[in-house]
Amino acid sequence: MAHVLALDQGTTSSRAMVFDAEGRVCGHAQLEFAQHFPQPGWVEHDAHEILQSQFDCARAALENAKLTASEIAAIGIANQRETTVLWSRSDGRAVAPAIVWQDRRTADRCETLRARGWSEDVRARTGLELDPYFSATKLAWLLDHVPGARERAERGELAFGTIDSWLIWHLTGGRLHLTDPGNAARTLLFDIHSRTWDEGLLEGFGIPASVLPRVVDSIGVCGETDPDVFGASIPIAGIGGDQQAATFGQCCFAPGMAKNTYGTGCFLLMNTGTEAVVSTHRLLTTIGWSGDGPPIYALEGSVFMGGAIVQWLRDSLGLIKDSADIETLAGSVPDSGGVVMIPGFTGLGAPYWDPNARGTLLGLTRGTGAAHVARAALEAIAMQTLDLVEAMQLDGASPLCELRVDGGAAANDLLMQMQADLLGVPVVRPKMLETTTLGAAYLAGLGVGVWPDTDALSRQWQVDRVFEPGLAEDRRLARRTAWAHG
Ligand code: G3P
Repeated sequence: MAHVLALDQGTTSSRAMVFDAEGRVCGHAQLEFAQHFPQPGWVEHDAHEILQSQFDCARAALENAKLTASEIAAIGIANQRETTVLWSRSDGRAVAPAIVWQDRRTADRCETLRARGWSEDVRARTGLELDPYFSATKLAWLLDHVPGARERAERGELAFGTIDSWLIWHLTGGRLHLTDPGNAARTLLFDIHSRTWDEGLLEGFGIPASVLPRVVDSIGVCGETDPDVFGASIPIAGIGGDQQAATFGQCCFAPGMAKNTYGTGCFLLMNTGTEAVVSTHRLLTTIGWSGDGPPIYALEGSVFMGGAIVQWLRDSLGLIKDSADIETLAGSVPDSGGVVMIPGFTGLGAPYWDPNARGTLLGLTRGTGAAHVARAALEAIAMQTLDLVEAMQLDGASPLCELRVDGGAAANDLLMQMQADLLGVPVVRPKMLETTTLGAAYLAGLGVGVWPDTDALSRQWQVDRVFEPGLAEDRRLARRTAWAHG
């Protein structure tokens, strides 16, 4: 039976899974790696630690599946998006730590460009906001601050990439410098309509074209791994930003279908088919994936703090020992007792786009206990998602019939019920919660014919539980109002 190896390089951990043609997991491994916060608002990763952890996981997953590289039909890659790496073409060494998508160091630069009236033009071409979240200003920062980097880049000695490109470079022994349109669409340098790097944007952000990767389809063989990496070469046949991959893994193949991933952040993507729907409510228009035929576009709401709020309660406040404990703690009180959390720890993403916002707890009284704060934290996650859905509906997207959910925090029944109550539509949790990794496998498996088409994938997708909305409208509105006033 054919097997696919999926690499899922996320913000806090690398993981790898081997899937069989039935979509079953035959082997898996996961490794966390260090997060670096050298200054307030800065977030960095060691690009080489990412590489090491991802390759170690892949080898461990193969071992766990009792398979060798020669028995793998294809590799699919899903990756944390926007995170920016700049490396030397001669030796493959990163010239500086990777600047992570959460990093806000270029907020002033974005502000200056916005003041020059750039926002509309940038949005029209890229579908994005002029925000430090995206790669362009991070890359410009590296070129300006790493000694000699700009001169070296201009001489063609340096390569830029998001994490997909970085992995592919090293998977292929430095032979291929590639990305897919979904990842390119997160750089602020890519015209999502013509699907080419945009010369005007490159000039405006001060990026030499020589550093850019070549853009290839998300689905289809784009190269082979160097035999030294896994012992035999494996075709690389799928590339997707992790949120695009999760949308694919949730089988949101028809326009109007949407998923929300509760990972570090929350990322809600709605498939809009072959149409790039322009948002007038500060959502993002992005490319989902491409293969045969025209690319599939999506409307996206990106929220920077989702499951990471629970981590903060655990690691910084010590309110819970394990992330899963939040369900019991928050469930021990009927409501948040008037406490509202605004999770602007790393600024606010869609639909507010305020890089200077910071986290706030409102409504504290002498009666406030840890359980109220825990409940307010879960509500903050669900409320941010509601903000995104409301913005999507205002943008004229198809009415949401159900929301498919995944990511670590989707295992939390209380949070999922809150989400259904607030949205007023069913929240559908699949059996396979690791849909990002599954999506990477699906992209690659389609690329080499392990699966014939997306219908075959939809037939494999299975529901674990449906959370039906059950909150009375007056109570729903009261909670909504408290959040909006926060
Ligand atoms: O845009 C950032 C996103 O790709 C990060 O996803 O799952 O690593 O938190 P995740």
